[in-house]
Amino acid sequence: MSFTARYGPAATGPAVTSDVLALQLARRSVRRFGPRDVTGDELTAIVAAAQSAATSSNLQPWSVVAVRDPDRKKRLAALAGDQAFVAQAPLFLVWVADLGRARRLAQRAGVPLDGADYLESTLVGFVDTALAAQNAVVAAASLGFGSVFVGGLRDHPEKVAAELHLPPHTVAAFGLALGEPDPAEQADVKPRLPQAAVLHHELYDAAAADEHIPAYDATLAAYNTRFGLRGAWTDRVLTRLRGPESLAGRHTLRTTLERLGLPSR
Ligand SMILES: Cc1cc2nc3c(=O)[nH]c(=O)nc-3n(C[C@H](O)[C@H](O)[C@H](O)COP(=O)(O)O)c2cc1C
Repeated sequence: MSFTARYGPAATGPAVTSDVLALQLARRSVRRFGPRDVTGDELTAIVAAAQSAATSSNLQPWSVVAVRDPDRKKRLAALAGDQAFVAQAPLFLVWVADLGRARRLAQRAGVPLDGADYLESTLVGFVDTALAAQNAVVAAASLGFGSVFVGGLRDHPEKVAAELHLPPHTVAAFGLALGEPDPAEQADVKPRLPQAAVLHHELYDAAAADEHIPAYDATLAAYNTRFGLRGAWTDRVLTRLRGPESLAGRHTLRTTLERLGLPSR
């Protein structure tokens, strides 16, 4: 288990470890894949892990679409902002926040479902989808697969919905490109903020936490330099969130969700 990869060379780790911890600490986004396919059995195991995640009130408000068809993967890669690795991965999982199943239950029972109109329900859909998908990531890693999330699907949610025949009251929250990591990929475990910047004891202390950011900026800038990239973490955060124009068209998501049947009152 490598604490130094995750937090930089000066970090000292705890005196505990486990196989799961080692797997989780070694996780990184994989964007280049080898030829090994993901078998049907492996997909079944990965989805079982996803379904084993906790889910609010056992609502299970998500679905997942497994895409293997090369042409469909290419179209989704284009919709996700021309991210070629989506098409290169043997398996592309599209994680769907799904209030449609509950809506259909209500329709069949002839009862109202007005609670589904509220932001709380949409949030529950997205939160539970993400919990499930992260379980899938760890399960896939345990089988030797790497993966990368693809939020780029939210650049064009309606076109993605049309491509996958998503029913009303559902939205593709993100994708997950999955496959055997290509060892030639130029990437490594990406360092994270020191725990002192994110972990508070009893009370939140923003000033004390933020003191640790300059050191992380230096660590991440060094990581980026290793891979021919520039900039520290602070620059990245401020650029990514500078204004609506930096959201790759997703600043209209609220109205798009309404059109898809997730009104979020
Ligand atoms: C919800 C979500 C969406 C993401 N979308 C993309 C994406 O569209 N393209 C991409 O290359 N990486 C995407 N990522 C990966 C992040 O860029 C990556 O996790 C982050 O830079 C940290 O690097 P690491 O995963 O290697 O530790 C996404 C991650 C998350 C959690």
